[in-house]
Amino acid sequence: MSLKSRGAIEAKFSNALDLHRQGQATKARKLYQSILRARPDHPGALHFLGFLAHQSGDSKTAIRLMRKAIQIQPDYSDAIKNLGNVMLETEQLGEAEQCYRRVIELEPNDVSVYSNLCVVLRHRERFQESIEAGRTATRMAPDYLIGWYNLGNSYRVARDYKKAIKCYEKAIELNPRFSPAHDSLCQSIFRLEKKSYLSRKTWKKSIRAYERWLECEPDCAVAAFMLSAIRGEEDLTRAPNAVIRSMFDSFAENFESRLGKLEYRVPELIGAWVRESLGKPQAGLAVLDGGCGTGLCAPLLKPYAARLTGADLSSAMLVKARARNLYDELVEAELTAYLAEHPETWDLIVFADTLCYFGDLEEIIGLTAQALRHAGNVVFSVEHLTSESEAKGYRLHPHGRYSHTEPYLSALMSRAGFSDVELEEAVLRREIGKEVIGLIVSARVGAG
Ligand SMILES: C[S@@+](CC[C@H](N)C(=O)[O-])C[C@H]1O[C@@H](n2cnc3c(N)ncnc32)[C@H](O)[C@@H]1O
Repeated sequence: MSLKSRGAIEAKFSNALDLHRQGQATKARKLYQSILRARPDHPGALHFLGFLAHQSGDSKTAIRLMRKAIQIQPDYSDAIKNLGNVMLETEQLGEAEQCYRRVIELEPNDVSVYSNLCVVLRHRERFQESIEAGRTATRMAPDYLIGWYNLGNSYRVARDYKKAIKCYEKAIELNPRFSPAHDSLCQSIFRLEKKSYLSRKTWKKSIRAYERWLECEPDCAVAAFMLSAIRGEEDLTRAPNAVIRSMFDSFAENFESRLGKLEYRVPELIGAWVRESLGKPQAGLAVLDGGCGTGLCAPLLKPYAARLTGADLSSAMLVKARARNLYDELVEAELTAYLAEHPETWDLIVFADTLCYFGDLEEIIGLTAQALRHAGNVVFSVEHLTSESEAKGYRLHPHGRYSHTEPYLSALMSRAGFSDVELEEAVLRREIGKEVIGLIVSARVGAG
């Protein structure tokens, strides 16, 4: 290739990078592809075309292209680091670690790669090594916000909540509007509590932390809601939509791995009810998975469904649900509004670990009854409130979820026109080593 055409290719590449940085993905992609037609072994074009593929959700292509770039230029540290990031996001943790370690050999002063290594080692449950990598990053760059945040997360997972709090404090000092650090700091304060209830000392500390979060971010719906929950404000009848969206959009990435650690059993319990009550799957029902999240219930519901619909407020949770390829339809919607728009539509409606974000269930259960076809079934989980002296029949807890009493649920279900109402106690998950007891509530409409 002549020097002249080499120069033209490099000019095209730099133009493509500018477009890529400006978010003009389609134009950048076309330029990378045209470079590769002229020079199939251009490592930069391979790497960044791979990067674009990952950004548009095609991680397989990203990995293939990045690997090719590295094969051509084995010391291409940016490509190796990005390959590590793709591997981390696709949970290929061993490969991700290898990539980061190779970058450290090539670029020992690259702070971000120590911080990424801290994350991958945490996911591999090698907490001490993860903390070491995170400490290296924060030592090398004491103003590196993400470094402090990642190190805090590793201390938190290793249950060293005091050190975790210090790291989050540092991250907040660097950027007072960095919500994830506020959120994690508040959660870590809860975890400091040794008792099974929130002591006055922890309660006060939590209130101060949430107040500070709100001072830094006055419009933060999550901080406002959580502060009300901790203060025990009586008039909150459900979590606002903005809170649900924000909580689950940020939770989506790690939702399943976190729940795995909590021994989360709700989909399994709901699946068992469906199997026992509906018999052999006939794939004949219209089924709604309300608050479907990442779709953990889908494999259990699909065999019964002629059409399986999932509805959820969180777009990030829906992205994960979509990847399962089990739903016939996934809708980003608020459940009460969605049910109101779909009278007499479903044979089975499921709410797995969703109604704990509602206190007052009157409206949603009424709408569920209307959204079911004749003799249709509903099955849902709630957290069990055993203190039946609770006049309202439900209570909002400092962790931001509601629990409900049996008398409240029984009365509500019959008011809505349900028959064959059953409430069965079950362990839903474990939290800080303790069992969370709930109720699996099932009923049938219009069959009495
Ligand atoms: C704890 S997750 C459970 C997800 C799934 N059902 C499972 O068992 O894995 C609760 C889900 O309910 C959704 N959710 C809560 N309130 C909602 C509402 N009012 N409308 C729609 N989705 C809601 C959340 O976005 C979240 O994805």
